[in-house]
Amino acid sequence: MGNIAIFFGPEGGSVHRVARSLAAKMESQAPDLILINEATASDLARYDHIIFGISTIGRDTWDQKFGNIDWARFMPIVSSFDFTGKKVAVFGLGDHITYAYHFVNSMGILARVIVKNGGQLLGKVSPENYDFQDSEALEAGLFLGLPVDEDFEPELTDGRLNGWVEQLNREF
Ligand SMILES: Cc1cc2nc3c(=O)[nH]c(=O)nc-3n(C[C@H](O)[C@H](O)[C@H](O)COP(=O)(O)O)c2cc1C
Repeated sequence: MGNIAIFFGPEGGSVHRVARSLAAKMESQAPDLILINEATASDLARYDHIIFGISTIGRDTWDQKFGNIDWARFMPIVSSFDFTGKKVAVFGLGDHITYAYHFVNSMGILARVIVKNGGQLLGKVSPENYDFQDSEALEAGLFLGLPVDEDFEPELTDGRLNGWVEQLNREF
């Protein structure tokens, strides 16, 4: 495995906590943990393996009125970045109770941008151990990354991350 980074945002909430936990579980690969606030395209270019962490804050996720200005700034950089030759995985924070019909939608939106821009998307996960109604993050019967719900099932996060790290170790 080549060099690896976890690009995440926003700062200080569930995404941040899960990003830190993931980095600790991947300690042997020594991933760089990079807050997207000030990240640039040349930061993305430095890594062969990229993991993104994002939350879904309604359908206006990147609208500044919801305060998710980190992704509002970084998403255009991702959208115009050429991911050819890069292995990429995404984890997405969401709430499967309150937003059962829009569960981790942003993870799906981000994952599709990566594929469209030539990235090899890995770390897809079966929805069978999740309870929800609908999600834009589903494709061909799989989640396009790892959903995590720290609001209503935080007790499952650790096991989910452990399973995903094992999967990434095989796929990356
Ligand atoms: C205004 C608002 C809208 C949300 N919309 C969704 C949604 O559409 N789908 C979903 O799965 N979670 C939704 N959530 C839940 C968040 O994704 C979840 O609380 C997440 O852990 C937040 O992580 P963060 O604090 O790192 O941003 C929403 C939360 C808020 C506050």
